[in-house]
Amino acid sequence: MRFFLSAFSSSLFLATWTILLFSSLIQAAPPPRDQTTTGKTPSKRNLETRDLLDSIKNILGLNAMKGYGPFQITSPAKPVYVRVGGDLGEEEAAWVNGRMKVANTALTDFLGRVGMKDFDHKTFMRSYTPTVGMSFSGGGYRAMLNGAGVISAFDARTPRAMGPGGLGGLLQGTTYLAGLSGGGWLVGSLAVNNFPSIQEIQNSKRLWKLKHSIISPFGKPLNYFPGVLTQVKEKSDAGFDITLTDIWSLLLSRVFIDQPDGGPKTTLSSVADSTAFRNFQMPFPIFLAIGRGPGEKLIPVNATVFEINPLEFGSHDPSTNAFSQTKMLGSDYSDGKPEIGGKFINGFDNAAFVMGTSSSLFNQILLDLRRNDANVLGGGIVKDLIMTALEFLSKIEFDIADWAPNPFFKMNPAVNPAASTKNLTLVDGGMDLENIPLNPLLCPHRGVDVIFATDNSADTVRSTDGTPSNWPNGTSVVATYERFANKFMSQGTSFPSIPDVHTFINSGLNNRPTWFGCDAKNFTGTPSPLLVYIPNAPYNVFSNVSTFRMSYQDAQRDLLIDNGYMIATQGNGAIDPEWPACVGCAVVHREMERKGMVTEQCQQCLKRYCWDGSRNSATPKDYDPQLKLRPAGAGELEQVKNVTVVETTPNNGTLAFAANSSHRSGAKLSSAKLTSTKKPVKKPAKKPVPAVIPASPFIEDHEDYSRFRDYN
Ligand SMILES: *[C@@H]1O[C@H](CO)[C@@H](O)[C@H](O)[C@H]1NC(C)=O
Ligand SMILES: *[C@@H]1O[C@H](CO)[C@@H](O)[C@H](O)[C@H]1NC(C)=O
Ligand SMILES: *[C@@H]1O[C@H](CO)[C@@H](O)[C@H](O)[C@H]1NC(C)=O
Ligand SMILES: *[C@@H]1O[C@H](CO)[C@@H](O)[C@H](O)[C@H]1NC(C)=O
Ligand SMILES: *[C@@H]1O[C@H](CO)[C@@H](O)[C@H](O)[C@H]1NC(C)=O
Ligand SMILES: *[C@@H]1O[C@H](CO)[C@@H](O)[C@H](O)[C@H]1NC(C)=O
Ligand SMILES: *[C@@H]1O[C@H](CO)[C@@H](O)[C@H](O)[C@H]1NC(C)=O
Ligand SMILES: *[C@@H]1O[C@H](CO)[C@@H](O)[C@H](O)[C@H]1NC(C)=O
Repeated sequence: MRFFLSAFSSSLFLATWTILLFSSLIQAAPPPRDQTTTGKTPSKRNLETRDLLDSIKNILGLNAMKGYGPFQITSPAKPVYVRVGGDLGEEEAAWVNGRMKVANTALTDFLGRVGMKDFDHKTFMRSYTPTVGMSFSGGGYRAMLNGAGVISAFDARTPRAMGPGGLGGLLQGTTYLAGLSGGGWLVGSLAVNNFPSIQEIQNSKRLWKLKHSIISPFGKPLNYFPGVLTQVKEKSDAGFDITLTDIWSLLLSRVFIDQPDGGPKTTLSSVADSTAFRNFQMPFPIFLAIGRGPGEKLIPVNATVFEINPLEFGSHDPSTNAFSQTKMLGSDYSDGKPEIGGKFINGFDNAAFVMGTSSSLFNQILLDLRRNDANVLGGGIVKDLIMTALEFLSKIEFDIADWAPNPFFKMNPAVNPAASTKNLTLVDGGMDLENIPLNPLLCPHRGVDVIFATDNSADTVRSTDGTPSNWPNGTSVVATYERFANKFMSQGTSFPSIPDVHTFINSGLNNRPTWFGCDAKNFTGTPSPLLVYIPNAPYNVFSNVSTFRMSYQDAQRDLLIDNGYMIATQGNGAIDPEWPACVGCAVVHREMERKGMVTEQCQQCLKRYCWDGSRNSATPKDYDPQLKLRPAGAGELEQVKNVTVVETTPNNGTLAFAANSSHRSGAKLSSAKLTSTKKPVKKPAKKPVPAVIPASPFIEDHEDYSRFRDYN
């Protein structure tokens, strides 16, 4: 491994060398524009030269912003610690205290609006504030976008979410927001950008521009790839091992962080300094990744699940059961204390690196570069360098993220498999099949009452040829159930009974919201949070897009977000007008049970949405869901090129969007501006997504090449 890493470093060295050579040429050229403005008017010719040189600098990555490399500090601002788990960290406990006050106001308002009958929400909320958690599964952009729709449905800032049938305000009343892989991109986009609304993201100039693949966000890959390599080199120079995940992360940063060049200085710990966090306006963001033991190829179901939040990094699992400070990651520890003579480091917890680690599965897309027609990368030395770097990296274990030095070195050696080594490698949070990040919300000391768990997994396969059809089938929650069935892993934490995946399909539990663990009396120990399982299903579009699809027209992106909105609201109440009241019942359910409170309406909700314990484990027919809100034949994402929003009447979820149609009714749908002004791009029809091999990430689109400079 060391050989390949040093080989990679030497390819970086070569890249640097090339860059330095060119930069010396550039230094010899006229000074930059802002200096000349004080002197004599530059001639047109000079300007052109400078523009050209500027472009060359961009192409070589010389203009890339610095800050990705971790750096040494002499005296940390706060005492440095590693603590044993089993309780909340002090800072989190203090923060949650503040958030609970905000959540109380929001939930009181929310419960007053959803149409709950025979329920005095004000009195209830005076004596108890439910702790609400939301979990967003992995599944690439499919998961991010459907998940975003769910978030927007729960967000008081979404105008239609505050109308009849709407669920706005639940997000403001939520304490924990957990994301993994594609769901981590969603949670990350909210957390690192000071908690924008989904609509603000859609309207933003920089965020979530998915028209171009992440490999080629604003035109040709060559435009920014060298910049990424320059940034990665900083980390290598600082003495840290680098892997493909670093490159992947820096590519992601350009889509998820609203700053020039992906804001390479943005750390996850810096989220704790943002106003939305300090004023308790955003829920507590949590990211998941899996620890991979040395030499492990397959991730066992008992693998250690790590969480990364703005304050702490660690694991609730009995194997590690310890936490260190996120901001101090990269520092040397031994047996839970700063190592004598070791370094104190800041800047390791790069926010994009956290998102990239949680989604390291996608490293294979980068490797796909090698399989692509070399023309895609253009020619020349830069391409050669990229190819060389990828070639080397692919020979090492490409899907890992290197998080060495391990903060839990020598800690708890009897049970901690990572105690014996300073290495710590993490992989995609969904690799143990638990694609929904539930683990951090189940630990009893967080006291979560209800988890809204959005499942955008791609589980289902066609029996005929084994090709995926990309719908969830419950595999993720079954995996969590199995993990917690193991006494050692659960350590007294409980998880509801979950039936097999055949029952999920046969009983339609993967087609509509299903609640698990409704009866607290059915638990032997402390009951788990109520699990409101919200599976991806087609409401107004077939939202089962391949995980590896890496580019979307804006209209397609927005349509998937709208599908998520319809999932969360059950068609804005069209499918069940009482759904908002039922969501209210879910929020207060555990506390009502504890108090022995019952309402007729909530009983009806439980009857309708709780899994009743029955099983139907016969082999199911292929799962082939129908669109819930639109007529047959509609809802093909590929046909959507020019989408116009159509406002629906309250409690009428039909035709939330109509392809190729103009506004039907006057009311504009908030600020969403969905009509594409661009002519349809003339290019050969996209090839169908191959079964297992990821689709080519390249959608070459020279039309937008000019925008490159805007983003630099
Ligand atoms: C997972 O289970 C295997 C087999 O039972 C065991 O060898 C391994 O140590 C366990 N890993 C952890 C992290 O507990
Ligand atoms: C830790 O990583 C280094 C290189 O980064 C490698 O040489 C060493 O073998 C690794 N140790 C273990 C126990 O995997
Ligand atoms: C359920 O999903 C898993 C993958 O997550 C897949 O292996 C299995 O074949 C699926 N089963 C059915 C019946 O869809
Ligand atoms: C999406 O689901 C529909 C219905 O099951 C199926 O016909 C279609 O092939 C699926 N598409 C993809 C890309 O998996
Ligand atoms: C109640 O618990 C039993 C035993 O764990 C389980 O078999 C059953 O499915 C559970 N019922 C429900 C509705 O979860
Ligand atoms: C829903 O709205 C559409 C379009 O405005 C209308 O044509 C349809 O009749 C409405 N359906 C119901 C059930 O109100
Ligand atoms: C939508 O527009 C596309 C061209 O932009 C056209 O090919 C398609 O037939 C239209 N669909 C409908 C339903 O009008
Ligand atoms: C897209 O929709 C707008 C508004 O309905 C219309 O003016 C425009 O011609 C459409 N473009 C295409 C390519 O269909």
